[in-house]
Amino acid sequence: MRSSKRSISVPIILATITVILSVALLVGWILIILLSEDVGSELWLLVIGVVSLVFIMAVSVLFSVSLVREMNEVTRQTSFIDSVTHELKSPLASLRLCLETLDRSGLQQEQRRQLRQMMYDDVERLSIFIDDILTASRVAHEGGTHSIAQAGLADLVRDCVEVIERRHRLLAGSISWSAPEDVVLTTDVVALETVLKNLLDNAVKYSPTDDEPLYVRVNATVDESYVVLEVIDRGVGIPKKHLKQVFDRFFRVPVESVRTRHGSGLGLYVVQSLVRMLGGRVTAHSEGEGKGTRMEIRLDASKSTRITT
Ligand SMILES: Nc1ncnc2c1ncn2[C@@H]1O[C@H](COP(=O)(O)OP(=O)(O)OP(=O)(O)O)[C@@H](O)[C@H]1O
Ligand SMILES: [Mg+2]
Repeated sequence: MRSSKRSISVPIILATITVILSVALLVGWILIILLSEDVGSELWLLVIGVVSLVFIMAVSVLFSVSLVREMNEVTRQTSFIDSVTHELKSPLASLRLCLETLDRSGLQQEQRRQLRQMMYDDVERLSIFIDDILTASRVAHEGGTHSIAQAGLADLVRDCVEVIERRHRLLAGSISWSAPEDVVLTTDVVALETVLKNLLDNAVKYSPTDDEPLYVRVNATVDESYVVLEVIDRGVGIPKKHLKQVFDRFFRVPVESVRTRHGSGLGLYVVQSLVRMLGGRVTAHSEGEGKGTRMEIRLDASKSTRITT
């Protein structure tokens, strides 16, 4: 990152000097014409000077804005590569260690079972991570794929809750939920499941890890125009100033409680892209650090989600 900043600083300085010189020349030009005795006959020169000045100022503002955007993107991509490297290396290192330990003689049956379980967990983590990267890249390039199907709302919520309970080795029923049993959605079911699983994964992941009992809840409600899905937790919360940024690609809240948990900052980017594709809106709500989080998805029934009861 430091070398890429150094490599663009020379062209930026040269471009800035060029813009300043051009502006100074044009201002000089305009002043000379204005101060000359016969402004009337040189009016066209004055117009050219003013138009060029406005043009150069507008181009330099646009150039600066796009440069800042590019630099932010480069910074995010660098931190993404760091987290990808970490997310790939740490389960691989753990797998190697487990394999080396399994090779030792004299291990008891129970120890072998635990090592195999750890290896399954690592493989699962790797495959979820790779799926996230592929989905994020697909939604970024194609805006996602649309495959419309029908699903009962309660079944969809139940399935996602069960997947996340299994993924985090929670007892069945640890995540509470409510959804009307008689509602059928006609929508991109796979996309909606990906969205809900990502939100539930975050809710569990960012909940306290100590002895406090887990509180994660999904509420699904429906009226004639909207399906509203809420995922509520009492975890680490999100500082108010970051409530919008959490949907940016690769963004993670820069606090210790987030750094100590695995993640690449892709999940909510995928969620937002898919919810938009479904014609809906996703918003994050939190009273701040340590105060829990409520994520809300509002799907508009008049767009790609049809509700039947
Ligand atoms: N329920 C939540 N409670 C607290 N913070 C959250 C919650 N959900 C998201 N965040 C914050 O938003 C950030 C972005 O979330 P996102 O799901 O995109 O990435 P991640 O969970 O860090 O990684 P992954 O790509 O594995 O999902 C998180 O890093 C975290 O700081
Ligand atoms: Mg996540």
